[in-house]
Amino acid sequence: MTTAAPVPSASSASSASSSSSPASPSSPSPSAPAPSPGTGAGAGAHRLRPRRSCLAVPGSNPRFLEKAQGLPADQVFLDLEDACAPLAKEGARHTIVDALNQGDWSGKTRVVRVNDWTTHWTYRDVVTVVEGAGANLDCVMLPKVQSAEQVVALDLLLTQIEKTMGFEVGRIGIEAQIENAAGLVAVDAIAAASPRLETIVFGPADFMASINMKSLVVGRQPPGYPADAYHYILMRILMAARTHDVQAIDGPFLQIRDVDAFREVAGRSAALGFDGKWVLHPGQIEAANEIYSPAQEDYDHAEMILDAYAWCTSEAGGAKGSAMLGDEMIDEASRKMALVVAGKGRAAGMTRTTSFTPPEA
Ligand code: GLV
Ligand code: MG
Repeated sequence: MTTAAPVPSASSASSASSSSSPASPSSPSPSAPAPSPGTGAGAGAHRLRPRRSCLAVPGSNPRFLEKAQGLPADQVFLDLEDACAPLAKEGARHTIVDALNQGDWSGKTRVVRVNDWTTHWTYRDVVTVVEGAGANLDCVMLPKVQSAEQVVALDLLLTQIEKTMGFEVGRIGIEAQIENAAGLVAVDAIAAASPRLETIVFGPADFMASINMKSLVVGRQPPGYPADAYHYILMRILMAARTHDVQAIDGPFLQIRDVDAFREVAGRSAALGFDGKWVLHPGQIEAANEIYSPAQEDYDHAEMILDAYAWCTSEAGGAKGSAMLGDEMIDEASRKMALVVAGKGRAAGMTRTTSFTPPEA
């Protein structure tokens, strides 16, 4: 079970005003971001939700939609795109609306993935789902994003629907999937395109096809390349996400029966700093929740650093800028790193097993 506590990031912790630079939907120049008139709510810490495990659920399958509600994933995304056959898409919009309105999704972030803007389905996906179930929806996921303008277009459409329906303007977030070379090249502008943006999501299957990668096994290293073929892509996404204070999410691993291999692939993006990963099968959920949470020892250590630093900078602790915690010297940079780990642990519902005792004066 997870909590809905926001996950702090180092940058949001260091300055409340450092959150994403919103671009105006009416002037979508990525180089000159301006405040959005449509989405006054602003991005930032409230958008950083637990997303260790993001469960893909085909929107056309009522049985899967029912079952997903009882699974311990942090997020579900009900899919109108690739998991939904073209002939099933129209019906699936209504199946999803019913599932969102009538199901029990408590404890989960509720997302719908619509079709991308190069298709003719996108606007009706958004209008049908958000008009029908906007009150019970947290985010819309946009696949195959290639430019900031595509995010801005979705932002504008959401704003109109929210105004028409009397929903809070700006509450529904956007998740942007990076699934091709053009999207990766534009990822900084995409990450800054709207204050609604909550995550940048790597889509490895489409991405591998887009760059002609010589492998058919999603997430596995292509034969013939002696290093990590995904390192640049993951780091590029992570830098854009951290710059604009949104989350970085790794995509699917398709060999659903091989949980060890899932752990290995997930472990790589978790080590870099990614916040979570897609899961396609209940068997992958527990592994994702564990891998994208801090280890108990690291969580305890982070909480100790925060307590020790708070004490040493206080008057009682001598108002010092740095201090020793055991053999380790800690300062403001240690606090920022500790905040990230402690925040992820708290959001995962972890309990600390150690406590801080100030040294004798
Ligand atoms: C997900 O959408 C992917 O293409 O990997
Ligand atoms: Mg895809």
